[in-house]
Amino acid sequence: MSGRNILFYDQVTVRYRGRTEPAAYKLTLPVPEKAVTAIVGESGSGKSTLLRLAMGLLPTGGEQAEGRVLFNGEEISTFSKKRLREIRGGEMAMVFQDPGACFDPRRKLGMQFVESYKAHRAGGKREALDAAGGILSGLGFSDPGDLFRRYSFELSGGQLQRAALGMAMMMKPKLLLCDEPTSALDPVVQAEVAGYLKDLHQKAGTALLLVTHNLGLAAALGDYIAVMEKGHLIEYGPTEQIIHSPQEGYTKRLIESVWEV
Ligand SMILES: Nc1ncnc2c1ncn2[C@@H]1O[C@H](COP(=O)(O)OP(=O)(O)OP(=O)(O)O)[C@@H](O)[C@H]1O
Ligand SMILES: [Mg+2]
Repeated sequence: MSGRNILFYDQVTVRYRGRTEPAAYKLTLPVPEKAVTAIVGESGSGKSTLLRLAMGLLPTGGEQAEGRVLFNGEEISTFSKKRLREIRGGEMAMVFQDPGACFDPRRKLGMQFVESYKAHRAGGKREALDAAGGILSGLGFSDPGDLFRRYSFELSGGQLQRAALGMAMMMKPKLLLCDEPTSALDPVVQAEVAGYLKDLHQKAGTALLLVTHNLGLAAALGDYIAVMEKGHLIEYGPTEQIIHSPQEGYTKRLIESVWEV
């Protein structure tokens, strides 16, 4: 590992209008390139807020009150709308918790892959379908052409999750942000999608920032684990260290709940 950070949260505070407690408070977190960083923590601890902030997609009422978020060493809040659009989907992509939301149910999937490709690359339909097909075969779709002719509502939860991953990975982004990528799936499909995620990450060298409730998944995929509680980063380190010698009571309880040690 080269030790460079593709993303770096530097003393970041995020507030939502009408709420007294910040959703993130003076939070510092490195996200090394080509590695997997997993964020775990209870509901409402600020995990999704951090991912959305990096994409420049905080919900209305949310604002970055302090600190900096650096993408490849550059401060994201200084990017023009044009630059942000170029980066989003191209160099940095996100898979949301609800994968259906990334597709338009009224249009066939093929067209949507083509449009997404054309937004970031000079090539035409042929190049787009080739790029999408290549990624989708690696995600277990033996016949991507069949997928292109279908609508998102015709897919199972696992297929939809894999199609959303394909959309996000088509441009081979440097950073993929995943919010609970497997939580809506049954355990067998969860393991399958996790396997694909690892494979994509390894082949493309994409850094992953993965939010999950599942500490087992975090331990299986993550090189680093960050533990959040109420907007604070309470513990961070290499996975081995967090799992085998957790320092904080909350982390210890999380580990006990998974492995019953
Ligand atoms: N649009 C919003 N307006 C006001 N408060 C919000 C908004 N979105 C999130 N919050 C608040 O910010 C805090 C962090 O929310 P966030 O969604 O980042 O948590 P999370 O860790 O992703 O939770 P979960 O595991 O349930 O998805 C919570 O207290 C939440 O209520
Ligand atoms: Mg969330």
